[in-house]
Amino acid sequence: MRLETLAQRKPVGGKRAGLSSLKLNRVEVRQPTLIRQEFSLQDFETLISDGHKTKRERYRVLDSIGWDFKNFQTQYLTHHFHSYPARFIPQIPKTFIRLFTKEGDTIIDPFCGCGTTIVEAFLNGRDSIGNDFNPLACLITRAKTRLISDKELDLLDKNISEIKRYVDSDHRRREYLKKLPKRNISNLFNRDMINEICLIKEGLDELKDKEALYELGLVALSATIWSVIEAENEIDIFANFYKKINSMMSIAGELGKVVEKPPQVIVIPGDARDLQIDSKISPLIVTSPPYVNALDYYRVHMYNMLWLGLDYENFRKHEIGGHSHFIANRFRLLTEYLADMLRAMMEMNRVLKRGGVCVIAVGNSSLEYELIESYKFFLAFAKYVNFKPVKAIFRNIDTTRKYSSRDIGKIDDEYIVVLEKERDLRGISAKDDGFVEEVVTKLVREFEQRVKEKPGSSLRGKRVSKERLEKNAERIAQAIKFIPQDIRIKE
Ligand SMILES: C[S@@+](CC[C@H](N)C(=O)[O-])C[C@H]1O[C@@H](n2cnc3c(N)ncnc32)[C@H](O)[C@@H]1O
Repeated sequence: MRLETLAQRKPVGGKRAGLSSLKLNRVEVRQPTLIRQEFSLQDFETLISDGHKTKRERYRVLDSIGWDFKNFQTQYLTHHFHSYPARFIPQIPKTFIRLFTKEGDTIIDPFCGCGTTIVEAFLNGRDSIGNDFNPLACLITRAKTRLISDKELDLLDKNISEIKRYVDSDHRRREYLKKLPKRNISNLFNRDMINEICLIKEGLDELKDKEALYELGLVALSATIWSVIEAENEIDIFANFYKKINSMMSIAGELGKVVEKPPQVIVIPGDARDLQIDSKISPLIVTSPPYVNALDYYRVHMYNMLWLGLDYENFRKHEIGGHSHFIANRFRLLTEYLADMLRAMMEMNRVLKRGGVCVIAVGNSSLEYELIESYKFFLAFAKYVNFKPVKAIFRNIDTTRKYSSRDIGKIDDEYIVVLEKERDLRGISAKDDGFVEEVVTKLVREFEQRVKEKPGSSLRGKRVSKERLEKNAERIAQAIKFIPQDIRIKE
């Protein structure tokens, strides 16, 4: 199976509606059609409800889903708690959970982020395991998947009212502020804002022995800090925090009415390349891994982690997909990323049962004006790690997941890669550097060839000199030389 024949790219600037599936070398790439744009909530619920007997029928249902989920509500219940860059919409995991699992099954997400898959498993009565190296992601996921009794919520309400009373008695607040050292950690947070955040944190700390309440409070505080970062301006910290925590408490109350018998949820703060999960326990993985050269979550969440007392240094060392290193040759980021993803896929194979379905949602990105179609790499990895490619589904991305940066431009589309585990990996594991080196070298050589044939594949109206583009082939050749060194997991 050759990479370049697996699928065709979305038509750039062309008419998308009306295109149907392209069948290339066994793997279908679904393109959006006009019919799917008119897809309604009722169509969706009918399609994903019971009644599909065979797996083949269920795979066929995937062709009738309107994957853009235009006009669908993509935030409900605890999904509202905290925004998270590049999260996916809940309808993606929901589709696969309903079609491919039943109550009592365990669903896994090795890169669970703010827990979209885990929340959907919880709402649909399935047990789940979420894993993420980002401690903030784990905190948010835990807070979103817990039932809290009305009695406990009353206790939290009392505690935050006390913080408010303290804050409202202005003279005491001024006294308190005088005692704090002068701190200005960035242009975003002025001294008053910092002090207000500290006050809320101190108030919440009194609830430390009531984990569910404490963590709910921390997530509300983190969401407030996030609002400052998003607004890039001064905001009223107290007003924002109280609005957030009150809305979260009312959602937590609602959740108890929706979920009568809570399924089991396990959240692991760990590395997707070395999952602390037993082998062959799950029929379904739904995940969206980091993108290459996209965003460093440790940077994005640095302030949140600092205030919440979470260990961001450890996460920084192990984060996949970051782009703050290999500045001189960005293609070394690609080889490192591919090695990490191959290891993660080997772990996904290990924890899945035979015949289990593995769903990976990922967008394209770019490096030095070269388009990186990550989904093609995942499809290409499949055969090396005993997965059968089933399909790749293209979808236009919704605004919550849209992400853009000066380095990579806009990520505005997404592919959902559907694979099926054929058999266990025998004699190799995710720790096997020799195997990883061999596969990554092969795929990067194919990429090098494509770049030589068609340099600058991701140029969008920019003017870049021919020499600059030609240099890319040299850089890729150099990155290949570094593969044995760059693919090693950093201690
Ligand atoms: C695209 S996000 C996942 C978003 C998630 N699907 C959601 O809806 O919230 C990718 C995640 O990978 C995590 N990550 C990065 N490196 C990791 C590693 N080595 N092990 C586990 N998770 C990692 C990041 O912290 C981030 O949460």
